[in-house]
Amino acid sequence: MIDFKSRIVEALSQEIENLDKQEIERAIEIPPDYTMGDYAFPTFPLAKIYRKNPNAIATDLAEKLGDMEEFERIEVKGAYLNFFVNRLRLAQEVLGEIYEKEDDYGRVNVGQDRPVVVEYSSPNIAKPFHIGHIRTTVIGDAIERIYKFLGYKTIAVNHLGDYGTQFGMMIEAYKRWGEPEVIEKNPIPELVKLYVRINQEAKEEPELLDRSRDWFRRLENKDPEAVHLWEYFRELSLKEFERVYGILDISFDSYKGESFYSDLMPQVVQEMKEKEVLEEDQGALIVNLEDYNLPPAIIIKRDGSTIYITRDITTAMYRKKTYDFYKNIYVVGSQQNLHFKQLFAILDKMGHKWAEDCVHVPFGMVSLEEGTLSTRQGKVIYLEDVLDKATQEVDKILEKREEDQGRKLDNRQELAHQIGVGAVKFQELFNQRIKDYVFNWEQTLSFDGETGPYVQYSHARVSSLLNKGGFSKEDPIKTDLLGEKEEIDLLRSLYGFSQTVIDAHEKYEPYFITRYIVELAKNFNKYYNATQILVEDQDLRRARLGLCYGVKVVLKTGLSLLGIKAPEAM
Ligand code: ARG
Repeated sequence: MIDFKSRIVEALSQEIENLDKQEIERAIEIPPDYTMGDYAFPTFPLAKIYRKNPNAIATDLAEKLGDMEEFERIEVKGAYLNFFVNRLRLAQEVLGEIYEKEDDYGRVNVGQDRPVVVEYSSPNIAKPFHIGHIRTTVIGDAIERIYKFLGYKTIAVNHLGDYGTQFGMMIEAYKRWGEPEVIEKNPIPELVKLYVRINQEAKEEPELLDRSRDWFRRLENKDPEAVHLWEYFRELSLKEFERVYGILDISFDSYKGESFYSDLMPQVVQEMKEKEVLEEDQGALIVNLEDYNLPPAIIIKRDGSTIYITRDITTAMYRKKTYDFYKNIYVVGSQQNLHFKQLFAILDKMGHKWAEDCVHVPFGMVSLEEGTLSTRQGKVIYLEDVLDKATQEVDKILEKREEDQGRKLDNRQELAHQIGVGAVKFQELFNQRIKDYVFNWEQTLSFDGETGPYVQYSHARVSSLLNKGGFSKEDPIKTDLLGEKEEIDLLRSLYGFSQTVIDAHEKYEPYFITRYIVELAKNFNKYYNATQILVEDQDLRRARLGLCYGVKVVLKTGLSLLGIKAPEAM
């Protein structure tokens, strides 16, 4: 598709000797209101160089540029040169491209098949999969989808927390009090109960801790009974997790968790010794990170056991070797900022240049308004319950709509699921990820306002309009008939889709896309309310429907990049 901005850069660079293309590109602004043009170039930076006033420079430049085919006009306003895109060209380009590429509209092959590891979700086995996990899961999935869309070869990794001394405690507790029949009926809550119980009883009976440590040692040494029980916990947990991923329509290419790397650790520790990055400190082995302005990291504890970060060093090296990643992305909460800083610093200190290709993508916390969620087990709020509740609430809303409108939806259950889960995801992806936020049911499930259901509803609305209007892609459209303000707004918005996706990927911020599709939906609804689309005049009607088709395609692609379905009717 034609890149209007780079045409401006090209043309200006011919006339301005003192700025290179990059500098010109960076200077170009997008005016907040396009009565001031689609692009604006401020001449302030040139004033010093030419020793002329900015307005005179702008006037001079406008004269030199003369007419440009892609622009209706170029205006001078104060120090600014304002470029007005040729509407006809805009409509032709945008709709031509959407018609041709359909679901691929907006895709630019930035990735060129380069491998990118995206690690997200990573819950701990034998622990609840709770509401706190929603952020990493949904943000990570969206980032993966965005990277894939832009031509990267993505590898979605679930780095399961399936290793650590707590599994020694689990085994000891299970041996004492565990009943398979009870556990299998309700695995995770029952396993959590065992864990809580042993922690409590260990306060009175400290030898439980020794026995637990012993079990962990046996696990490390591959004692068959210990391994068998550990596998049992892992499988039970994974089955639960996968059920929730199924509801979320999220999948992984690898479930290699912490335990997988424990076997590879000795070699890595050996390498660290050889490279002399380890120092002894009161019996423990640490890495001094003074040069990085970071506190030292313990790698091997005094009792000889390894820890979380040791496994992460091993993991990163394994990923480099296995995938030769271009980027290795960790979608993990901001509580672990220090951990990842230390991890990347250690890799760098070991001489791994690719440490700079490792990226921590942190996010803030989600909290809940008091008393708005049901709890099944003590204080824990299971993610699955939240998703179920969302679906049930939406089902009630749909039922009411059926009654009000006197019509039956043929797939209400499926629809309630798509809207309910979509609403929860959308809410997660609506704000800059680093911000903490409070989960609010009413806001999440509302059909109007800046919500998932609103965007899905707009998609359904445009779909039914196309049906009703007898839209066919085969009909030729006269794009020159699209000249209303709302139409131009929509075209401008559609034109900006690709750049939005690229920005989202560069900044690891799916919310760019969330905001974008809300704006597009709003612009569409404004258009829908202000303009009669199904007019008598066939040519005009076809042109308008063609534009609506463009809106539909982009809403659908935008939603799909966030992992949200786009229903045809609601
Ligand atoms: N399992 C960890 C937790 O629940 C998250 C793992 C993050 N990823 C990593 N490579 N350290 O806190």
